[in-house]
Amino acid sequence: MVRRPTNEPSWYKDAVVYEVHVRAFRDSNGDGIGDLPGLTERLDYLQDLGVTAVWLLPFYPSPLRDDGYDIADYRNVHPAYGTLRDFRRFLREAHRRRLHVITEVVINHTSDQHPWFQRARRAPAGSPERDYYVWSDTPDRYAGARVIFEDAETSNWAWDPLAGAYYWHRFFSHQPDLNYDNPAVAKAIQSIADFWLDMGVDGLRLDAVPYLYEREGTNCENLPETHAILQRLRSHLDHRFPDRMFLAEANQWPEDAIAYFGDGNECHMAFHFPLMPRIFMGLRMENRFPIIDILEQTPPIPESAQWGLFLRNHDELTLEMVTDEERDYMYRHYARDRRARLNLGIRHRLAPLLGNDRRQIELVNALLLSLPGTPFLYYGDEIGMGDNIYLGDRNGVRTPMQWSSDRNAGFSQGNPQRLYLPVITDPEYHYETVNVEAQARNSSSLLWWMRNMLALRRRHPVFGRGTIEFLHPDNERVLAYLRRGEGEVVLVVTNLSRHSQYVELDLSEFAGIRPLELFGQQEFPAIGKLPYLLTLGPHGYLWLSLVAGRPGGQPPSVEAGKRITLPGASETAFHDPVRHDLELALARYLPTRPWFGHPGRALREVILQDVIPLGRRLPDTYLILLEADYLQGESDWFLVPLSFAFGEDADDVRHHQPELIVAEVVEEDLRGIAFDAAGWPPCVTTLVEMIRQRKGQSGEEGAVGFQAATGMPPPATPRDPEVEVSDNPDGHTTVAVAGRYVLKLYRRLELGVNPDLEVRLFLTEQPRQEAVEVECRCLGDVAGRETGVGHHHHRDQ
Ligand code: NOJ
Ligand code: CA
Repeated sequence: MVRRPTNEPSWYKDAVVYEVHVRAFRDSNGDGIGDLPGLTERLDYLQDLGVTAVWLLPFYPSPLRDDGYDIADYRNVHPAYGTLRDFRRFLREAHRRRLHVITEVVINHTSDQHPWFQRARRAPAGSPERDYYVWSDTPDRYAGARVIFEDAETSNWAWDPLAGAYYWHRFFSHQPDLNYDNPAVAKAIQSIADFWLDMGVDGLRLDAVPYLYEREGTNCENLPETHAILQRLRSHLDHRFPDRMFLAEANQWPEDAIAYFGDGNECHMAFHFPLMPRIFMGLRMENRFPIIDILEQTPPIPESAQWGLFLRNHDELTLEMVTDEERDYMYRHYARDRRARLNLGIRHRLAPLLGNDRRQIELVNALLLSLPGTPFLYYGDEIGMGDNIYLGDRNGVRTPMQWSSDRNAGFSQGNPQRLYLPVITDPEYHYETVNVEAQARNSSSLLWWMRNMLALRRRHPVFGRGTIEFLHPDNERVLAYLRRGEGEVVLVVTNLSRHSQYVELDLSEFAGIRPLELFGQQEFPAIGKLPYLLTLGPHGYLWLSLVAGRPGGQPPSVEAGKRITLPGASETAFHDPVRHDLELALARYLPTRPWFGHPGRALREVILQDVIPLGRRLPDTYLILLEADYLQGESDWFLVPLSFAFGEDADDVRHHQPELIVAEVVEEDLRGIAFDAAGWPPCVTTLVEMIRQRKGQSGEEGAVGFQAATGMPPPATPRDPEVEVSDNPDGHTTVAVAGRYVLKLYRRLELGVNPDLEVRLFLTEQPRQEAVEVECRCLGDVAGRETGVGHHHHRDQ
């Protein structure tokens, strides 16, 4: 059974999706073509980047005349990319890193090389085999349907000499459309979807979904029959795979696009095609109107539905969903070079579209990540990759990922002439300077900025789930909106202009509140009754938290977002999706403790790296190992003994030490807490006992071992000792136990042997040094961090 990254059925609402083509990411065997083993090798990169899902373009056997959207076999892997086994391994590795995987089912058409088509053209007219596709004796049926690939095709009909008939195709003529009037077709597609879902794929993008049916006298798009078939696919999905997702590719106006959500009974997601060009228009016009206008024209969507937002993808920047004037405007401003135009669109990547202007790149991404929906990033745009408009069709935006300044940009060890497409060598975007390795080293790079933004977004579910409300300040160059969600309100203010702007916002509803700027965790002046004045630099943007949801710097209090709901016993806190909530709670908790030791250092996120249960010795108590990532600089590792308590124990902590509460915990009708148990007598005695008995304990990834430094065991400890706890900014907590000895818990863990412990060990071996003596130490060899808990006692007591 495949382990799923989360059991939250609406995971796609909190997702950030990374779109990537297998062949473009990493070539593992030097044949010049990216492959599944190569992609698997680079999953750590995606995890570090902070995306939560990967969308793979078609990787099936195909003549590759439409880069794989021309499928010749739906149930296999193109040999250049690997094998089904490689795919299964990729899926497993992605899931292990809590990444969801979205793949493609191209349901509208196949390659003309698909056995179905080869069979159809040879079968007699009217036979069920012939009927898999749409045929005609004349090329004039369905004249109301437009030609989509207008640079390549002149008609939607193509002549097949073998069949002696015309066949219907909405895209390239080598991509015949399937005939959904034949029930066998829907059945076949259904079983293909099941094939991949059974394997464990989390979501399916349904390509070209508006075109499934043809009817005379219509434009053959969005027909009722098409919706009926989607409903059938969905009800089957809900029945067999309730936690998976359908994503519609329907390049349509909002009112037609929302039809693909049905009443929550068709697709879970659909791309918002009309919004995308309007983000670019608003930016160039320095006016918020196009963006607000299209979102206000977008009708509300069902509860379970979610828009997919994107700036760029593997196709041309499509201008189908704009008026003729708007298209002219876009061409004039974004595609002066005619070669950059393709079909009804522009074949540029994000950075070249925006003149490689870092400010504008940040601004549009800040919009992408804060407007309502799930953001989709296109591979390479996170480092500002360039494109090559001389490569024909859409190949210029599909060149190899740039990993380093090595040969072939670190994409492949092969002969440069063998690459499926050449790497970018344009002087401005040359892979020697624009690459992952160079940017990973520079914390001011676009890559770092993206990582920080993604981490920030992940901490605020309001961006994926909240409502939007536009503000209407006089200054139209400023786009301002409120995102409201459970217990959280964030104000987003964006300057679309290349000059500094000021704006006065009516925020009287929030009078008395001090906004917290989310990137740097800076408090802003309190909001009063008068309009709130903000100034923004050129293309500047602010995300201001107005209510709750504040990681870092704030003392913990009982507030929404600090509460975790457990589906079962305490260990379920470490399963997804609760694990993530716990990480959020810990991100709030850490900066409040003296041993955190970094006042003012802004946390990017906290990652739970290991969990070591104390097991039967002390149920519901765990040593947890955390990685704290900061907005700037190296990360730190911390150790927290975390205990779950209900009833009296919980009341006791609530009453005497509320500052140790990490989260409120709800388990069915029980109300409890998760708290830092470092100084909790049962935890202290358990640890001391473990040291005495030199008991080891293993966790998810590593283990702690307890080891005596001298032959002398520590004295037995009373069961409920008096303890005196003190936290130290050097990164430890000391617990004086029953006035007899001291347990020193190293909170901040260093790689290697803890120098402090070494000194104490040394002291132990020099018995005449009387002051302090180490009896034993506990070693956590977790992820190479040796020192976990240290223990010593005063000799003469
Ligand atoms: C939509 C895909 O995004 C595009 O790349 C492809 O060419 C067409 N569908 C036709 O399959
Ligand atoms: Ca390869």
